[in-house]
Amino acid sequence: MAKPIPASSPGTRFGDVTRRRVALGASGAAAALAVPGWPARPVAPVVHATAAAPASAQLLAKPGSPKTQVWAYGGRVPGPVVRARQGERLRIELANGLPQETTIHCHGLRLPNAMDGVPGLTQAPVAKGGRFVYEFDLPDAGMFWYHPHIYATEQVERGLSGVIIVDEPQPLEIDRELVWLADDWRIGDDGALSADFNHPHDVSHGGRIGNLVTVNGAEVESIAVKGGERIRLRLVNAANARVFGLHFGGLAPRVIALDGQPVTPFAPAGERVVFGPGQRVDLILDVPARPGERFVVRDAYYRRFAYDFVTFVVEPGKALRDKPLDTSVALQPNPLAEPDLANATVQDVLIEGGAMGGLAEATFKGEKVPLRRLFREHGKAWTLNGIASASMAEAPMFRLALGKSYRWRIRNDTVWDHPMHLHGHAFRVLSRGGKPVAGRPWADTVLLHADESAEIAFVADNPGKWLFHCHVLEHHHGGMGAVVEVI
Ligand code: C2O
Ligand code: CU
Repeated sequence: MAKPIPASSPGTRFGDVTRRRVALGASGAAAALAVPGWPARPVAPVVHATAAAPASAQLLAKPGSPKTQVWAYGGRVPGPVVRARQGERLRIELANGLPQETTIHCHGLRLPNAMDGVPGLTQAPVAKGGRFVYEFDLPDAGMFWYHPHIYATEQVERGLSGVIIVDEPQPLEIDRELVWLADDWRIGDDGALSADFNHPHDVSHGGRIGNLVTVNGAEVESIAVKGGERIRLRLVNAANARVFGLHFGGLAPRVIALDGQPVTPFAPAGERVVFGPGQRVDLILDVPARPGERFVVRDAYYRRFAYDFVTFVVEPGKALRDKPLDTSVALQPNPLAEPDLANATVQDVLIEGGAMGGLAEATFKGEKVPLRRLFREHGKAWTLNGIASASMAEAPMFRLALGKSYRWRIRNDTVWDHPMHLHGHAFRVLSRGGKPVAGRPWADTVLLHADESAEIAFVADNPGKWLFHCHVLEHHHGGMGAVVEVI
């Protein structure tokens, strides 16, 4: 379990997550929350992702509250939902209107290395005023997301992120789909974003945790639903550092996909759904046929700072149906190569560093440096297998043989949460905290709590140089990343 974030964290004011409310259904936010079905197409539509600054967004929902200066894709926070069908070819045209370089990384998509959007590794950064076209096939259905992969601590925090949905050929029988990009912001009462990006305290502790939580770029209090309605709720955590741990308060959610990859539907223990930065969860909610009833979804991940995330209000009057639908909510698996566990090469990844971690020294640019000095002089606080990453250009942590199976034993020897993300692949999560994980779900990001270990397995079937890093963006900035080469 995560340690509560110390109240001394600069500007964090963790305890007073602002919840100025707006009733969903009466505001523009409502339209953004419901995504209509996408018509069938042989080729996916071209997406123009113009990254622009400044733009402004009404993050604070109180009438008359100031707008916040943000950076935005297509003038919106979050960016437009990119939607295509499994097997289609996707084309995203980036035009950089930011005051600095950028790239787009499509998180979780298994795409060719050159399309991965990692500057210095898979492409040159896209200059101010520059353009870049990302184009690739979509082998997997599911929920993914896109965000910049340079100066990410600032660019993602300022609002650059958006959802990618790849539709299954066989749609599930549902009444409504909700797509929620959850984010947080560190913001003042004047609505301005605090500009203390990469603050040393955030880098060495739990990352930049904000004091305003939004869903699709706006504060949300409640959402009207119908009794008996079946909802597919798709969640993504686009926050720099905040982990969400939602308690569904009687709505009995069923998880049908993690990180976009189908799982055998299951009811999470205690109706609790935890997702760290970068992670996605697809849920089925069969709303009880109890008109007028309210179901409060509460985020109690940081127990001392629990708050109401959203309230589902069942409309009065006749329910849509008396009994929940009994059709299957199981999704077809994606075409992923099954790792050969018996013959897989076992590799260890040790995560060390951070505040209260006791790591004395780290290797940085090939030299052993005392951690204190490394932090003071270079802002690095974290290591993977003893190395604090300096740039993308360094030697790979591992070289993997194309087509071979690997088992990674990842150990978090720190007192902080780390959502560890591998590019270009999906892996099975075999165990966490020494216990087998039921169903060995596929994922691209695995959340390691303080002092926790996890074992993952995958086939290295996508050639190229791929990043493996912590998705707490300040931790990645602080050295917690490595390159893995598949050849
Ligand atoms: Cu969501 Cu390396 O990224
Ligand atoms: Cu981390």
